[in-house]
Amino acid sequence: MAPEKKIIDWDERYTIGIPHIDSQHLQLLDIINDLHKACCESDSKALEQFRQAVRDTVTYVKTHFSSEEQIMEKFSYPDMSEHKKIHSEFAQEILGVAVSFEEGKKLVPNNFVRFLKDYVLSHIAIVDAKLGAYIQELQNTGIMGRNTIRRKNEDDTERKIILAIDDSKTQLTIYKNNLSMYDVYTCESAIPALEIIKTMEIDVILLDLAMPDISGFEFLKYLRKSQEQPNVPVIVISGKNTEKYILASKDYGANDFIAKPVDPDLLLKKIKKQLEIADSKSGWTIKS
Ligand SMILES: [Fe+2]
Ligand SMILES: [Fe+2]
Repeated sequence: MAPEKKIIDWDERYTIGIPHIDSQHLQLLDIINDLHKACCESDSKALEQFRQAVRDTVTYVKTHFSSEEQIMEKFSYPDMSEHKKIHSEFAQEILGVAVSFEEGKKLVPNNFVRFLKDYVLSHIAIVDAKLGAYIQELQNTGIMGRNTIRRKNEDDTERKIILAIDDSKTQLTIYKNNLSMYDVYTCESAIPALEIIKTMEIDVILLDLAMPDISGFEFLKYLRKSQEQPNVPVIVISGKNTEKYILASKDYGANDFIAKPVDPDLLLKKIKKQLEIADSKSGWTIKS
């Protein structure tokens, strides 16, 4: 069977360099590709997926545009009003499609695919890219600290950022599923994690020990000596839960240790504890 063809693939042009915005953009590509796939299968599948796609796009527009606009406001983006106007026009179009759909008007799913695809090509690749370049420039000139861009919770507090490093995709999925109250970024090896800590302020790191390339201990050694957030709390999470590895984690500068398989309640409790310690700036670590 021929490999499934996506109508739009992620491309470097769509990366704007603000991690949570990039991951939201990827969600839109998924909506488009899922609908396109259904359109290629059958009319009934297309219609069924169309209903889902319209709903998902309405939700997407609300959360995504508000995330981008928070950044624009926070960093006094000069083209903010023009960018917001484009968002508002697009949101109106999407709501129009949703209303027409609810009223039972005959709509062509394929047209919606094309409409969304054009939006990605024109808005993300050009308009959002300009915002990304502006933020990048602020970061390069040191005007803003390392990733002061954070998503907001409903109570207007900023969401905490967790970086989970583990070579098991299953384990990373467990973290994502259990830590939905945080923004969780994942790395399947410690090497990309070293890049992430240069550009993004992390609140807690969850670290596996046995990984290809560089081990959890090597990562810790580098982190604690580096200029890049040397004091970020690290919870080692490993199947190697003998006293030897627990003590070695402590010696390398870990703040806590959890044995695999991970108990979700314990994980939440320990993350919360590290966040409280960091907030109170007590400087507590198990190393001392
Ligand atoms: Fe966007
Ligand atoms: Fe935008």
